Amino acid sequence: MPILAPTADSIAALSAALQRGELVALPTETVYGLAAVATNPAAVLKIYQAKGRPAFNPLIVHVPTLTAAQQYGHFNETALHLAQNFWPGPLTLVVPYHPTTLQQAIPDLVRAGLPSVAIRVPAHPLMVVVLSAVGEPLAAPSANLSGHVSATQPQHVAADFGPNLPILDGGPCPLGLESTIVDCTTPTPTLLRVGALTRAAIQQATGLTLAEVQQPTTIGTGTIKAPGQLLKHYAPKAKVRLNATHLDAHEALLAYGETASLQPPMMRNLSPTGNLEEAALNLFAMLRELDALNPTAIAVMPIPPHGLGEAINERLHRAAAGR
Ligand code: TXA
Ligand code: MG
Repeated sequence: MPILAPTADSIAALSAALQRGELVALPTETVYGLAAVATNPAAVLKIYQAKGRPAFNPLIVHVPTLTAAQQYGHFNETALHLAQNFWPGPLTLVVPYHPTTLQQAIPDLVRAGLPSVAIRVPAHPLMVVVLSAVGEPLAAPSANLSGHVSATQPQHVAADFGPNLPILDGGPCPLGLESTIVDCTTPTPTLLRVGALTRAAIQQATGLTLAEVQQPTTIGTGTIKAPGQLLKHYAPKAKVRLNATHLDAHEALLAYGETASLQPPMMRNLSPTGNLEEAALNLFAMLRELDALNPTAIAVMPIPPHGLGEAINERLHRAAAGR
């Protein structure tokens, strides 16, 4: 199955495939997700296999409502407050795993054996429709090969997984960066991953100052707090050079802000007007586009660190690391 336009028929077919234990790629407001029914361990295993994802890196469970989320996790006052403020939307909450009925248990594989579970209520209308048609929670990591740049367009998903994976075409994802992850199992909620929801938005709505992850963490000990925050991530083939103030021959330029005086042969501009929302939305697509031109490196102009710039810079640092 190729990339499918969203119709009643294609949504029914994709939902049936999920119920049979197959994988499908679905749009969310953040990035595309590679989805499987979260309560089906055999289906979830296919996610790890398809992505080449290490088994110690747990998955996010997507549910339609806070009430559905409470079937799987314990929401303390802080978690409830965050969920009520930001769901549906680009916020993932890590809460103690606490299934109310064992029949609907989220398998160890989804949680990588952790005593917690990461849950979010997505806002994308197509994801919402599929969740309701399937009637089960969906485990869905970003729909990219492990370590590669996340996918914000259906074509990105197809480029990573080939033509056999059914992909529901929602066009470009409206936010373009993954959800922000907050761990509510710690006395003060901890920011595990900064994403499409800014730190400032959370602090403003809740009056909370989020704690930071205590890095560095070691891999493979079973004690990692933010298992997905491995350094090598979001990586294009090309080397990535940050805070570039000049461009070498055969380098591609990932620009930000006004660039009228620059005409390099390989260039994309995240936002000519210096708008961080626009830059977030373009980031992964432009990294993939420049990478496809086979430059010796992708030189990235400085991006302001405030607001969404924090998440953008975090992705770029990981893209530049680990090679
Ligand atoms: O926006 C998003 O969050 C997208 C869309 C598809 O929902 N999903 C996504 O999933 O970015 P993924 O797998 O690429 O990132 C999930 C992150 C990983 O870093 C993983 O380690 C972390 O969530 N995670 C999952 N369960 C966790 C848990 N119980 N404790 C701590 N971190 C957890
Ligand atoms: Mg990912």
